[in-house]
Amino acid sequence: MEKQQRTPDRNLAMELVRVTEAAAISAARYMGTGNKEIGDQAAVDAMRAVLDTVDIEGTVIIGEGEKDEAPMLFNGEKVGNGHGPAMDIAVDPVEGTRLLANGTPNSIAVIAASAKGSMWVPEDSLYMQKIVVEERAKEVIDINASPAKNLSQIAKSLDRNVSELTVFVLDKPRHQNLIKEIREAGARITLHTDGDVMGALMAAIPGTGVDVLMGTGGTPEGVIAAAAVKALRGGMQGKRDPQLDYEKEELAKKGVDLAQVLHIDDLIRADDAFFAATGITEGSFLKGVHFDKIKGVTTHSIVIRALSGSIRLIEGSHALKRNLEFGAKGLQQAVKMASM
Ligand code: FBP
Repeated sequence: MEKQQRTPDRNLAMELVRVTEAAAISAARYMGTGNKEIGDQAAVDAMRAVLDTVDIEGTVIIGEGEKDEAPMLFNGEKVGNGHGPAMDIAVDPVEGTRLLANGTPNSIAVIAASAKGSMWVPEDSLYMQKIVVEERAKEVIDINASPAKNLSQIAKSLDRNVSELTVFVLDKPRHQNLIKEIREAGARITLHTDGDVMGALMAAIPGTGVDVLMGTGGTPEGVIAAAAVKALRGGMQGKRDPQLDYEKEELAKKGVDLAQVLHIDDLIRADDAFFAATGITEGSFLKGVHFDKIKGVTTHSIVIRALSGSIRLIEGSHALKRNLEFGAKGLQQAVKMASM
């Protein structure tokens, strides 16, 4: 008998939070170690173990890289227990590995899911130019227009002056001109060494203190952010913006059109999408993982579902001992590490 195509259950949102909570708890133990890999590996292990308990037939579209470089959560890997709907999965067990290694704000564990075949595959594109705003400004953004033009249009849509807008920009040499232009336009800037998924999330949610995300960051991070922006009904446009020589060569060899503008519905081609993130280091939007012998481990997460538009901010309190006995395998592992 032919297998029936199942649609995702709304409970998937809560299942996905368990996945990011476990990753964040595991990784948080390694905050400030100066080592980018060790926290990432811990998060990958925990994320995978919990993902395997989730009722989906998932395929990793955005993962830790190709099979030979990444032992787990590699692109194309099957995840989930195989009993639920077929889904595309994007993961970043630690988004902001340097932030975690340095103990600086806003590293998060993140996952996104949408129906099978609906997530845009970056292939050889590693860097993407992005612009993200909240719902009220989504119709006016134009990635091909100047920052000044975009900011004046966004300000109008939000009924504010440009000087009252705050733009999240990654603090990278490639953004020298962008930063100059934003300053000349009169908007405020918040510079971050890493973490533009958090930047996009904050830009798409009104009242977070970030109104716009502008600039070039990772392409995989762009697809993950797109799931959140889609669920929040915000606005986003992206354009491949290769930064590395071999990336430029690969895209040129394949005749990829760098002028193509990717809209939110190109990046996530499904009405339903799920996004979950848990803070690892302390952040301005999501708090980090806190450890306490009596209270246990506290986590702060956000989970969003596109179809219903529900946004949940979840504070989780994880009893170390009880989780060791009864928690899912990934959480047990995370808690074991946390109690070391
Ligand atoms: P990692 O977690 O993989 O280190 O990525 C962090 C990040 O800052 C992303 O948020 C951003 O999209 C990308 O790296 C920018 O890349 P680069 O640091 O090479 O400019």
